[in-house]
Amino acid sequence: MAIELYRDKTHACLMFTDLMEEDGQAVQCNQFLIVDHGTGAIIDPGGNLAFNELFMGMTRHFPPQKLSYVIASHADPDIIASLDRWMTSTKASLVISRVWERFAPHFTKVGKTEDRVIGVPDSGARLPLGQSELILLPAHFMHSEGNFHFYDPISRILFTGDLAVSMTSGAEARKPVVNVQAHIPRMDAFHRRYMVSNKILRLWTKMARQLDVQMLVPQHGAPIMGKRAVEDFYCWIENLECGIDVFNESNYQIPGAYIDPVTRQIRAAPQAAMTEAS
Ligand SMILES: [Fe+2]
Ligand SMILES: [Fe+2]
Repeated sequence: MAIELYRDKTHACLMFTDLMEEDGQAVQCNQFLIVDHGTGAIIDPGGNLAFNELFMGMTRHFPPQKLSYVIASHADPDIIASLDRWMTSTKASLVISRVWERFAPHFTKVGKTEDRVIGVPDSGARLPLGQSELILLPAHFMHSEGNFHFYDPISRILFTGDLAVSMTSGAEARKPVVNVQAHIPRMDAFHRRYMVSNKILRLWTKMARQLDVQMLVPQHGAPIMGKRAVEDFYCWIENLECGIDVFNESNYQIPGAYIDPVTRQIRAAPQAAMTEAS
């Protein structure tokens, strides 16, 4: 079931949180459908696990030929592994960073993306949608090298891809967060490892504060709702040390541990072998 993040007579933003089986093997993902005056865009459609239900959900709102864009924040498998099926089933263009424009066709059969990729420059741009537009905001290195967030000026939702994500179930992802302090433990480890540096987080926050944002909606986990919660998130993220801020020499050592291919576990190096080697 889709959640209506926003709806008026001509514009709607829908979020799908549970289109894949939750067997713990694949991370929970959200997909988004934005409709304006009967034409639409899918944001971060995800992998093959989500395709069928998302496609069916979309056709409840408009026929597939009215899908203008498949928009990808970056090129990870949980973002566009289903690209071949979208290119086959619709006439939509793929909107993606120029950094990934020539890599994305590897997700499809030969020729499927020909004359259908809109490569977005690093500086971002405004993309017409129906009678409105989406603002494609630079969000590079958060976490991907060529990465965009999407601001919808009608709903005042900022779709933040892998920023502001939390590790939850599909059911939990449906409940918007208003208390950011209580939510930080569910975001902290992911952001420390996946975001590239505090410098980037500060630059992004300075840009994001210039927008009127009612809701931050990530690609994993629950939306962060309300002006107060959005500002609390900005205050947390702009002070977070992450990625290359926290990596040091200890993270770049020749490994001693080995992989047991039967149990798929990592085992510490035998003590004797380590002593001999040292
Ligand atoms: Fe990602
Ligand atoms: Fe992701």
